[in-house]
Amino acid sequence: MKRILVTGGAGFIGSNFIQYLLAERQDIERLVNLDLLTYAGNLENLLPVQDDRRYTFVHGDIRDRKLVSELFETCDFDTVVHFAAESHVDRSITEPEVFLTTNVLGTQSLLDAARRRWNLEPDNKYCREYRPGVVYLQVSTDEVYGALGKTGMFTEQTPISPNSPYSASKAGADMVVRAYHQTYGLPVNITRCSNNYGPYQFPEKLIPLMLHNAQADKSLPVYGDGMQIRDWLHVKDHCSAILTVLEKGVRGEVYNIGGNNERANIEIVRLILSELGKPESLITHVQDRPGHDRRYAIDNTKITTTLGWAPAYTFERGMRETIEWYLQNPGWVERVVSGDYLDYYSRMYGEV
Ligand SMILES: NC(=O)c1ccc[n+]([C@@H]2O[C@H](COP(=O)([O-])OP(=O)(O)OC[C@H]3O[C@@H](n4cnc5c(N)ncnc54)[C@H](O)[C@@H]3O)[C@@H](O)[C@H]2O)c1
Repeated sequence: MKRILVTGGAGFIGSNFIQYLLAERQDIERLVNLDLLTYAGNLENLLPVQDDRRYTFVHGDIRDRKLVSELFETCDFDTVVHFAAESHVDRSITEPEVFLTTNVLGTQSLLDAARRRWNLEPDNKYCREYRPGVVYLQVSTDEVYGALGKTGMFTEQTPISPNSPYSASKAGADMVVRAYHQTYGLPVNITRCSNNYGPYQFPEKLIPLMLHNAQADKSLPVYGDGMQIRDWLHVKDHCSAILTVLEKGVRGEVYNIGGNNERANIEIVRLILSELGKPESLITHVQDRPGHDRRYAIDNTKITTTLGWAPAYTFERGMRETIEWYLQNPGWVERVVSGDYLDYYSRMYGEV
C-alpha cells in the first residue's frame, strides 16, 4: 500500500481516515483525496494534513469517468478506499435519484478504472490476473441488511434487505463490487460498519445535532419514541478496522465492523443533556421518519477472530472525547451550520 486513492475524504469518516492513515503509516508515498465537495464535504476537516507532502486534494466527481481514469493513469494507485457517497438517509427520502447515480454508478466508474489499470490483460475479458498487492475497498454500511427485531445480529450471511433509498443504493453498489470480483476476479473487500460517531460529523446527524441544539438551549427533535437502537462505534475504530482489512483481509470477502455497543437514540440524547447539564424538557418528539429501521446490531466475530481487530474505545470514553471536541471547536460547527444546512433543517423538522 504505497499510492492510495481515497474518495469522499472531505466527509466525516473519510477525513478521519486520511488523518489516521497518514499518522499510522509513514511509508505511504501518495494519498489522493477525490471529493466533489457536496454539502457534506468540508475541506476544513483536513487542515491537520493539508501541508503533508504525501497528501493531494482533487476536486471532482467519482462519476466523471474521464477524470477517474486520468487519475489512475497519472497516480498509479495500488489501493482504493471508496467512501464517497450520498450518505444521509433523510435526504434520500426526499431526493432519491442522486443516491443511485452517486452510490451505484459512481462505484462502477471506480471499479472500471481499477480493473482497466490493474488487470494484466485489460482487453482480454477472460483474464483474472492482477498486479500484485492491489486492492479496492468498498466502505459499506450495516443498513444494507435492513432492520432487526428485538433479538439477533447481522452476520456477513444475513440477506441484503435494504429499507431506505440510501441503503438500497449502498446495497446496489455492494452487489456491483461483488460482481466485479466474481466475474473479473478484481481483488476487492466490502466492509459493513455500524453507526459512527466522533469529530467532524455533519451536524444533521444525531449526536452533533443534539449537542448543537442542547448548547443553544434549542429543542432536541427526537424521531418517534426515540427507541431506535443502533450499534455505535467511534470513527477511529472504524478507521483502524478498514486499515486492518486492507492489510490482512482475504480478498473477495465481506467484513462486518461493529463494537457490540447497542444504544437507543433517546439514551444518547439523555446522555448528552446530562453531560452538558441541560434539562430533559428540551426533548421534543417529532413524527417518525418513514421506513425508520428499529434496530441494528452487528456480529463482529469474523473480523475480530480472523483478522485480530478489536475496537479501542469504550463508549463512555468515546462520547466524552467527542463532546469535548465539539465544545472546543464551536467555529467548525458554526461554519457548517449555514446556507444549505439551515434550509434543509427547517424542511425536515419545521420550526421546533
Ligand atoms: N456515517 C456513518 O455512520 C456510516 C456508517 C457506515 C458506513 N458509512 C459509509 O461510509 C462512507 C462515508 O460516510 P460519511 O458519514 O463520512 O459520509 P459524508 O456524507 O460525511 O461524506 C461523504 C463525502 O462524499 C463526497 N461526495 C459525495 N458525492 C460525491 C461524488 N459524486 N464524487 C466525489 N465525492 C462525493 C462528499 O462531498 C463528502 O465529502 C459512506 O459510503 C457511508 O455509506 C457511514
